Amino acid sequence: MRAPSDPIDLHRHGAALRARRPAPLGPASAGPVAIVGAGPGDPELLTVKALRRLEAADVIVHDRLVSGEVLAFARPGAERIYVGKAAGAHAKTQEQINALLLGHARAGRRVVRLKGGDPFVFGRGGEEAEHLRAHGLEVEVVPGITAAAGCAAAAGIPLTHRDHAHAVTLVTGHGTAPEAEPDWAGLARPGQTLVIYMGVATAARTAERLIAHGLAPETPAAVVEKGTTEEQRVLATRLDGLAATVAEAGVRAPAVLVIGAVAAYAEAADRLAEPAVPACAAAL
Ligand SMILES: C[S@@+](CC[C@H](N)C(=O)[O-])C[C@H]1O[C@@H](n2cnc3c(N)ncnc32)[C@H](O)[C@@H]1O
Repeated sequence: MRAPSDPIDLHRHGAALRARRPAPLGPASAGPVAIVGAGPGDPELLTVKALRRLEAADVIVHDRLVSGEVLAFARPGAERIYVGKAAGAHAKTQEQINALLLGHARAGRRVVRLKGGDPFVFGRGGEEAEHLRAHGLEVEVVPGITAAAGCAAAAGIPLTHRDHAHAVTLVTGHGTAPEAEPDWAGLARPGQTLVIYMGVATAARTAERLIAHGLAPETPAAVVEKGTTEEQRVLATRLDGLAATVAEAGVRAPAVLVIGAVAAYAEAADRLAEPAVPACAAAL
């Protein structure tokens, strides 16, 4: 038996996992399907590999958060299929998406499954890869810049900082049912940065729970809406003002909430962006 400190033989481990998979059902030419991260919005934040897969694709199955500018990199003849999910309004069910990917790959087409940010961060990329592999298809995962990294950088927020934050936690704001509640006490520990995805609607409850579990009400917080795009908005506030800020500014998805000492850098970046001399004085 393996002691906890023994290294895992990944090669053997992988072979054992592969042996458990069902036999391939598709033709020999099927796949690989590329599950590709499109980054947070700015098309220049695509990876070179993502760009190459897009340019070569016959079929691109994409989500709502993938911008038109990114899709424009596809070759003219490529088929683009929108399967986006807005809150409560799904263009296609996950089963339909899985079937679509399988069908096109088995027909011998080069399929790109294009997702906003990184496909393996709150993107169901893991489930889709599992499904495709379980049906005998090869899958290539091309990582992308996830919203936390992209939005924080674009807002001037260092996610870690030797003086302020030694850890970063990515959390979904969707966990509202009692059985899906996050570990609030763990999240409320100081010295870390929280980045909350899909957290606009639950901002009030998030702030209330964190404060109830001991995080100081004056902890800096920031909201980055449509980060890295031309419509980006950055709002700097405090934990106890987060819900009011979100409501008053009418923040809409996609947005991330950044909570922790480093969020104060958002304010500093905003201040630097302001003209040093008021516009009316400059005109004199
Ligand atoms: C379903 S998750 C997908 C996350 C994606 N896979 C990633 O790695 O960024 C959607 C959430 O990501 C966040 N998000 C994605 N792009 C964003 C952007 N450009 N600006 C702000 N938040 C963004 C928002 O919290 C949004 O509700």
